[in-house]
Amino acid sequence: MAELAEPLRGVSVLVTGAAGGIGGACAELFAARGGTVYLTDVDDAAGRDRARRIGKGAHYRHLDVGAEEDWNAVVAEMSWAGHRLGVLVNCAGTALKAPLAETSLAQFRKMLDQHLVGTFLALRTAASAMADGGAVITVSSVRGVLATAGLGAYGSAKFGVRALTRVAALELAERGIRVNSICPGSIETDITAGPGFADDDVAAYVRGIPLGRRGTPAEVAAAALFLAGEDSRYITGTDLLVDGGIAAGVRTPRLQPQKA
Ligand SMILES: NC(=O)c1ccc[n+]([C@@H]2O[C@H](COP(=O)([O-])OP(=O)(O)OC[C@H]3O[C@@H](n4cnc5c(N)ncnc54)[C@H](O)[C@@H]3O)[C@@H](O)[C@H]2O)c1
Repeated sequence: MAELAEPLRGVSVLVTGAAGGIGGACAELFAARGGTVYLTDVDDAAGRDRARRIGKGAHYRHLDVGAEEDWNAVVAEMSWAGHRLGVLVNCAGTALKAPLAETSLAQFRKMLDQHLVGTFLALRTAASAMADGGAVITVSSVRGVLATAGLGAYGSAKFGVRALTRVAALELAERGIRVNSICPGSIETDITAGPGFADDDVAAYVRGIPLGRRGTPAEVAAAALFLAGEDSRYITGTDLLVDGGIAAGVRTPRLQPQKA
């Protein structure tokens, strides 16, 4: 029974962006299922606070996903502590909403650093530090599946996340390491507090979501837990959309019945 409730007992988990909405929910769920969870972020106060609230089995460390030395330091520390990386959830990053004509080179590079370079470093870390049979979950976006006006920098980085995820899945399969990507739709977190989102008509946006509401961080964390665990043991190199149906297709006005 304990095995069912705590499938991650004895497993060391690293979550980036764990001070935030989705990363925080993943850290909480993975710890509740018995994992030893290293929460990491650049927001040290919020990250420490989250780890303290989770309590047993939770540790906080500073890790900027675009900084190679931060990855090396955290993984080395886990290893000294006898924690061989078993699950990695790479969740960190911000968004930028701006038309291409109004996107500076520095802004574009920042999106690439956080999402694409961050994913590269996560996957390279997994390749070298992860135990055989481990699982990596990268976080792309429905905006990395559907090209979206106003999200050129963010969206192209997220398309790239899916590509890198598949390459890693192919390269790490022989060691039994599975690598999959989650593509959230619109999830209730702080991410849309960033530049360009203040004037959004959220109600109009929600009307475009087939399931009629935004998702919760816990719903994304549940998908991550599935991809980390035994139930997904034959799944690698794929994307799991957690988007309330946004990417399923285009809804058209009700068609008139055809006359006989
Ligand atoms: N919320 C959504 O609607 C949504 C949709 C699709 C994809 N996503 C993706 O989910 C992931 C998590 O987003 P969220 O919604 O939880 O946002 P959030 O703002 O709640 O959390 C993001 C976290 O990342 C941290 N962070 C930012 N830059 C970092 C860096 N360089 N290194 C380490 N940490 C950094 C922030 O401090 C924050 O704690 C992001 O990759 C985001 O693109 C979110």
